[in-house]
Parts: sequence; structure tokens; C-alpha cells
Amino acid sequence: MTDRIEIRRPDDWHLHVRDGAMLKATLPLSAGVFGRAIIMPNLKPPVRTLADLRDYRKRIAAALPAGSSFRPLMTLYLTEDTDAGDIRAGALSGELTAVKLYPAGATTNSDSGVRDLERVENVLEAMQDADVPLLVHGEVTDPDVDIFDREAVFIERVLDPLRRRYPALRVVLEHITTSEGAGYVMSNAGRLAATITPHHLMINRTDIFRGGIRPHLYCLPVAKREKHRLALRRAATSGADCFFLGTDSAPHPVHEKESDCGCAGVFCAPVAMACVAQVFDEEDALDRLEGFASRHGPAFYGLPVNDDTIWLERKSPEESAFRDVETEAKERVRVFRPDAGLHWSVADR
Ligand code: NCD
Ligand code: ZN
Ligand code: ZN
Repeated sequence: MTDRIEIRRPDDWHLHVRDGAMLKATLPLSAGVFGRAIIMPNLKPPVRTLADLRDYRKRIAAALPAGSSFRPLMTLYLTEDTDAGDIRAGALSGELTAVKLYPAGATTNSDSGVRDLERVENVLEAMQDADVPLLVHGEVTDPDVDIFDREAVFIERVLDPLRRRYPALRVVLEHITTSEGAGYVMSNAGRLAATITPHHLMINRTDIFRGGIRPHLYCLPVAKREKHRLALRRAATSGADCFFLGTDSAPHPVHEKESDCGCAGVFCAPVAMACVAQVFDEEDALDRLEGFASRHGPAFYGLPVNDDTIWLERKSPEESAFRDVETEAKERVRVFRPDAGLHWSVADR
């Protein structure tokens, strides 16, 4: 039995670090393990322009622990007013790594997202020309579509037509939750890839209601049936380079999760690598963990792999337990905790 493994330092290809006190409290937990992360732009108000992006990058740099070599990879939030000139300039200067598409109303802070894709044609063309990837929250917002079907319907109604229209555009289907998502990405790999979260590899929709309603397991896209979780585990551990780690770590204050209308998002950053090591161990695929966490993402984004390594080790669940994180504003954030406990953790060295 392997008890300790060394892998190239991983990256997080989908991360929410928010702003202000929340940024200060949560960013160091990612920066201590990951080399780089794609920073999601769904602030209130969102990161819409190159000027917003530069300001946000400065605030992130200021929140990093002294001496940290963590690199934030910045994104813009696509709106119907996005300026194609910002895309070209950001791509040229290297400040812009990707652009995020939120269908308006699909998820947390997505109200400024896109209602009509025809209104962003010039932006998508500029992205295709400059080879800037489009990252998509892949759910339709049609209220008549059942919430558990929204990813599969999005692929059919939105993603597939979009990819046909812009065949050279690189696209990442973010945080996939279904066998349809995994299957579609696998059969269109090349300019299409997908991120997978630690929690979607560990929980199914029944877990959200195990013993009562569990608001801290609620995120979007919502976890699906067990057969989908198993399909995601097969995809992640397959070795296929179209699948890579994006934690979608999405911190919210406990009081906003535990409420009448609790918001969507699971805060998994502090345990993300422990979770994926555990999943790969359970699937007897620890030899493929480095591909998923550290190699496939940089290959898709055309970046080098990180040059140092981290160690992961088997531990008792008690030793790997994580307490709530508290911000300077005295807001608590609950860390994702699989019911069965965690048997892996990142080693100090
Ligand atoms: C994310 C958030 O809280 O910003 N929430 C979530 O449930 N995943 C938004 C997102 O990634 O869709
Ligand atoms: Zn999303
Ligand atoms: Zn997200």
C-alpha cells in the first residue's frame, strides 16, 4: 500500500477567492498548495474590464503570504457589453488567461451574465483569433428544465451549437457533474476540456439529504445521481488529458448557506488535494493523480508544469480534519468534509 507520494505541484483551474476579508482568509489556503489558479471573476460587481482585472490582481497579490510564489491567472466576466478590444489587449499583454461565460441567472453572482449569445459574437471571434479560452458554467437557465437536467440540456442546446460556430475556440466546460458532460468532452477532446471538482467526485445528490438537508453540500451544478458520480470518477482517473482539477472552491459565510434560501457553493480549497488523493487511491489510480492535478491543465492552457513538487500522505481522519475558517470580519466559512472522513493530507515535507 502506498502511504506517501510526491507529485509535481498542482494547479487549480477553477477557484473563487472573493474579495476583502474573505480573500484574505481564503487565498492563503490555496496558495500554500497550488502553484497557480484560474481566478473566477464573479465578484459583486464582476470583473468586466481589463482595468477591473488589473485592480483585482493587485488586491490578490496584496493578500498573498509574504514570499509566496503562487500565480493568479486572471479572467474576465463575459457580459453583453464586453469590449473585444479588452480581449485583444489582455491576450497580447498576457494579463488575460481566459473569459468566463455565465448564462444570466445560472449561479451565484451571475446576474450580469449573457442572455443572448448573439450579442457577444464579436467578443467570441476576438477570443478565437487570440486563442483565449472560453470557460463555461454549463447549465441552461430555462425554468422549465429540471435542475438535474440543466447540464445535459445545456450541452445540446448551447454548447454544441456554440462549438460548431467557433470551431477553433478553446472551451472548458467547468465543474462537470454528469456522464453526459464527461462523454461529450471525451468525444470532442482537443479544443474542448472539462474541470472536475473534488466534491463532485465524492458526493451524489442523496448525500445532500442524508439525515436532513445539508446546505454545505449544495453547489451548482448540483450533485447528481450516483451513476454520474461514478462516471466522473472514471473520467478523472482515466488518464485522458481533457480532464483536469478545478476545485470550484466557493466560500460563503455560514449564515448565508444556512438560511431560508441558502446560496450555492462548496468551500473545498483547504482539503482539495487530500480529497482527490483519496479518490485516486480508492480507484487504485494514484499513478494518474499527477496528470489530473498537475499536468493536463497546463498542457491545455499552453503553460509549463510547475517546477517543484508536493507530497501527499495517508493520515488518520482525525489528523486531517479541518475547522471552519474565520475571516477578519468575523464571518465563518465551513470547509467541505466528506462524511466518511479524509484519510489523506498534504504533507509538510
Ligand atoms: C459558485 C460561487 O459561489 O461563486 N457557486 C457554485 O455553486 N459553484 C459559482 C459557480 O461556480 O457556479
Ligand atoms: Zn459555475
Ligand atoms: Zn465556480
